[in-house]
Amino acid sequence: MSLSLLEKDRRYIWHPYTQMLTAPAPLPIVRAKDTLLYDDQGNAYIDAVASWWVNPHGHAKEYIAKKVLAQMLELEHVIFAGFTHRPAVELAERLLKVLPSNQSKVFFSDNGSTAVEIGIKMAIQYFHNLGKPRSRLIAFDHGFHGETFGAMSASGDLSLNNPFKKQLFSVDRIPVPVPGKEAESIQALKKALAGGDVYAFLFEPLVLGAGGMLMYEPEVLDELITICHENDVLCIADEVMTGFGRTGKLFACNYLKTSPDIMCLSKCLTGGTLPMATTICTQDIFDAFLSEDKYKTFFHGHSYTANPVGCAAALASLDLFEDPACWEQIRMIEASHKKYQEKIKDHPRLRAIRQRGTILALEFSSPEDTSYFNEIRDQLYDFFLKNGVLLRPLGNVIYIMPPYCITKEQLNKVYQLIKQALDQF
Ligand SMILES: Cc1ncc(COP(=O)(O)O)c(C=O)c1O
Repeated sequence: MSLSLLEKDRRYIWHPYTQMLTAPAPLPIVRAKDTLLYDDQGNAYIDAVASWWVNPHGHAKEYIAKKVLAQMLELEHVIFAGFTHRPAVELAERLLKVLPSNQSKVFFSDNGSTAVEIGIKMAIQYFHNLGKPRSRLIAFDHGFHGETFGAMSASGDLSLNNPFKKQLFSVDRIPVPVPGKEAESIQALKKALAGGDVYAFLFEPLVLGAGGMLMYEPEVLDELITICHENDVLCIADEVMTGFGRTGKLFACNYLKTSPDIMCLSKCLTGGTLPMATTICTQDIFDAFLSEDKYKTFFHGHSYTANPVGCAAALASLDLFEDPACWEQIRMIEASHKKYQEKIKDHPRLRAIRQRGTILALEFSSPEDTSYFNEIRDQLYDFFLKNGVLLRPLGNVIYIMPPYCITKEQLNKVYQLIKQALDQF
């Protein structure tokens, strides 16, 4: 007897972020187009979280697919130590044209966690190579930077990382400078710096994603960066989630007057098609690795570093960002979120509502504990999915982070469902 897809899935696969004993069977998705995912029964779902925040232009984008196929047929992969290729060089050149002007060298990897891990390693080795090694990192309380050990260490005290706590390196934490907490955050940074020995301050600029879509203003980030620079401490911007239009500008750092020294990009880099990441740094950092002494080399690399197919997808995605239609959609989503906020903000079940660019977050006031494991999260998730919308609340925080090709009608459907959920739960 042949097994069904779901039976085989249960037999062979371990899903991410999933309690395999109690989780309902996963939904088999057979195809996708633009903002819609289709299951094996022909049901459509609006992908209102851009499939874990990776998709800017919509699913199954023909323009990207064609470029990917052409690249596949020409050069699918080659080791990137001792070799180079046109797609990587073109991508680095094009990224540097649109990144803050102090960014100078692009280092490739393949996911957001490694992009951050590389940023941390670059900063540590920078000071090591200069002959003045340092050992402390500063990061926000509720930051999230990924799943590898450095990224887990840098992330806020998430209960999800409990089993690994003893293996994580210690990090100086400062409060997120949300409105009203700016002075507290600045004070905490100054205090942490006063101890000396700090190599870097790592942050998600303007929006802390997995920590609950917490938002803060560019002015206070400028102040934090300035203070770090006055203390000769490097600043690492984790733009893995905020990059590529999410916050209403191409990068969240475009809101700043100052610039970070290192930037990490991933998620939307390839238009939601292939795993790829980049960590970009200033010339000054790069220069500290130039030496006759081989031990000053940056000994880091992954098998698929600068995969040409990933680079081709990223180049195609950048083409689509050059189309004014993409930015018209981003402006439409921003304006639409704003209007909805006005309408819903006095709902008795809402504790808070916040927006930055295309991201709208609604904090549900729930009588229960509001952690990631809160029961209302599962009920909301099921409710949305049953009604044809993929939303994955973070505990009691519902957020919308759609592909930019979402239509007004689709957005309205998402808004109406959220209103219904607020009324009902
Ligand atoms: C800000 C930020 N940094 C890093 C990561 C880790 O990225 P990845 O899941 O690709 O390893 C994430 C993932 O959500 C993120 O939001």
